[in-house]
Amino acid sequence: MRRIRRFSIGNPINTEAAVQEIPKEKGEFPYFTRVQGIALESDGDSQETMVQMDYLCYQMGTEDRIYGLGEHVRGINKRGWVYESNCTDDPAHTEGKRSLYGAHNFFVVDGAHTFGIFVDYPGKLTLDMGYTRMDELRITPEDWNLDFYLLEGDSILEIVTAFRNMVGRSYIPPKWAFGFGQSRWGYKSAEDIRAVVRGYREQGIPLDSVYMDIDYMERFKDFTIDEGRFPDFPQFVKEMEQEHIHLVPIIDAGVKIEEGYEVYEEGLEKGYFCKDKEGKEFVGAVWPGKVHFPDVLNKDARKWFGSKYKYLLDQGIEGFWNDMNEPAIFYSEKNLNQVMKEIKGIKNDNMDMWEVFAFKDLVNGLANNPKDYSSFYHNMDGETVCHSKVHNLYGYGMTRAAGEAFEELEPEKRILMFSRSSYIGMHRYGGIWMGDNRSWWSHLLLNLKMLPSLNMCGFLYTGADLGGFGDDVTEDLLLRWMALGIFTPLMRNHAALGTREQECYKFTQTETFRNLIGIRYGLMPYLYSEFMKAALEDKMMFLPLAFVYPEDSHAKEVEDQLILGESMMIAPVYTQNASGRYVYLPEPMKLVRLKSMEEIETEVLEQGHYYIEIPLDEVVFFIRPGKIVPYTEPGQHMEELQGKELKLLHFADGAAEYELYQDDGYGKDYGNPDHRKILRVK
Ligand code: GLC
Repeated sequence: MRRIRRFSIGNPINTEAAVQEIPKEKGEFPYFTRVQGIALESDGDSQETMVQMDYLCYQMGTEDRIYGLGEHVRGINKRGWVYESNCTDDPAHTEGKRSLYGAHNFFVVDGAHTFGIFVDYPGKLTLDMGYTRMDELRITPEDWNLDFYLLEGDSILEIVTAFRNMVGRSYIPPKWAFGFGQSRWGYKSAEDIRAVVRGYREQGIPLDSVYMDIDYMERFKDFTIDEGRFPDFPQFVKEMEQEHIHLVPIIDAGVKIEEGYEVYEEGLEKGYFCKDKEGKEFVGAVWPGKVHFPDVLNKDARKWFGSKYKYLLDQGIEGFWNDMNEPAIFYSEKNLNQVMKEIKGIKNDNMDMWEVFAFKDLVNGLANNPKDYSSFYHNMDGETVCHSKVHNLYGYGMTRAAGEAFEELEPEKRILMFSRSSYIGMHRYGGIWMGDNRSWWSHLLLNLKMLPSLNMCGFLYTGADLGGFGDDVTEDLLLRWMALGIFTPLMRNHAALGTREQECYKFTQTETFRNLIGIRYGLMPYLYSEFMKAALEDKMMFLPLAFVYPEDSHAKEVEDQLILGESMMIAPVYTQNASGRYVYLPEPMKLVRLKSMEEIETEVLEQGHYYIEIPLDEVVFFIRPGKIVPYTEPGQHMEELQGKELKLLHFADGAAEYELYQDDGYGKDYGNPDHRKILRVK
């Protein structure tokens, strides 16, 4: 039986994460106790310090597992580390990190008791999942104004669906956004983009979109296009359209301070930028140099910022990615002045070790400094609120600005939108990508692990920078990563300025890339259908094996395979020089081995552990008993898939059924019964 209970403490800020109103309950929360007091804490060496404690504590049993928390490093089971919800622009996603770009305070504890917790709190929240003490789960907010939701149900999946019902339907992108996209920070001109499209088309490697990073703007100003490098932009958009390519420009949070720049002047005049303590516009710096941040937590300012997307929509653009919206701050004007002064003071010093460390800290501390975050303010419904109290809502506000504007400007049409920073609630307005990962094998696995945690929190349209954003990729890493990426809703190859070029056609195994991406397109009937059903029914698209086989103790520990929708299990290779990998089958399954959509082999395997050979030029997945995977011939782009005959892969002894969801991919009449069709094998 499902039950959601809400306990409100203090005077919570309304984040609008939930769309369902849950009545407040009074009294003690179940399972948790509030621990308050002063204690002597040891740092493990000889140092002992007095610490003030005030947290909610759950006593964990040895068997308890924790799932969820959305975008974070580490495992599918989140137990054994301390996480912080504190949206951060940090391009080093190493195991020691406590925060990435999102704040997703929903998790499920599964063990002696099984329940879900959502802490609706937009400030910094510490979630200690057995770090300080291995048997304690501790939740520490910075102040006690929050909504604490407790969710119960008969299974983890039921709890997740109850939560997703409560926070509202996940964002649905246009269908073309399921096609493969190429991106790179550094495509500077229309000519650069044409070369990318040519590269793909000449090699017959499918492609649907090219992303435009900050280089398309005029001096990194939002809602501008550099006319020298992109002459007659609307015509260029049309030309790309004829090639069946969608251009997807980036929009950054900071608005450049520049006289004569309309967005800046308008925002200033209307008072729509965040202010400092003295009531003056706060000055931070990002790519364009000094910027102001639009106050996207103020309804009017949000509407205004959203209306600016029209500039690009009017030129034929149908999708965007919102970036730097933690918001990232390279330095603030005030702090920079202060640091410069201090550096001048030590200029002629003979710095010893400590002084060098302090000097480095001064410079490194310029970016994303907590002091800066507490020195500017929002106007939320007439109330002045310090940014650090609502820090985690900024990316949400920016993406909501866009989402609400699209509803108004293009009510009949789906517009692609995904963001870097997010909070639960933002999942209704856009997807997210997983930020600035690296060309590391460990990040391929991290990509897989994040998928179910994000799905739990409502983020279905998601994916990582395939091949890795930072550092140089190798051809085998890209091939293996793409072999996972063909299954993720957002399938985009993106890389940082200065790294090795990683467009698929730049490597030697072009035929393999063609086949691999072809498999993505071939499996589209299944992938799109599973995405849509997950969105429309508040379900997960990617599930840990533990959720599907809760009685199977092996399945519970699997951290490198996922169930994808109703019929499929995936188990990609994520180690270099491996000819295959170990796979655990919790039940008999049909192994499907594809070299291309035309070369498919299958083999039935019993439940158990296997070493499966998976050469670099093959994709392997598994079909569950009694299940069907519809597929089709591939195409060079999504439009080419239209009208192609559906075929069925299945693992059915007798009769089996699959409910296919299909629509035109643009409209929003999701409830139309014609979109659903039962496919049968007899
Ligand atoms: C940020 C984004 C990255 C983008 C870069 C330049 O690092 O995360 O995707 O390429 O900014 O805009």
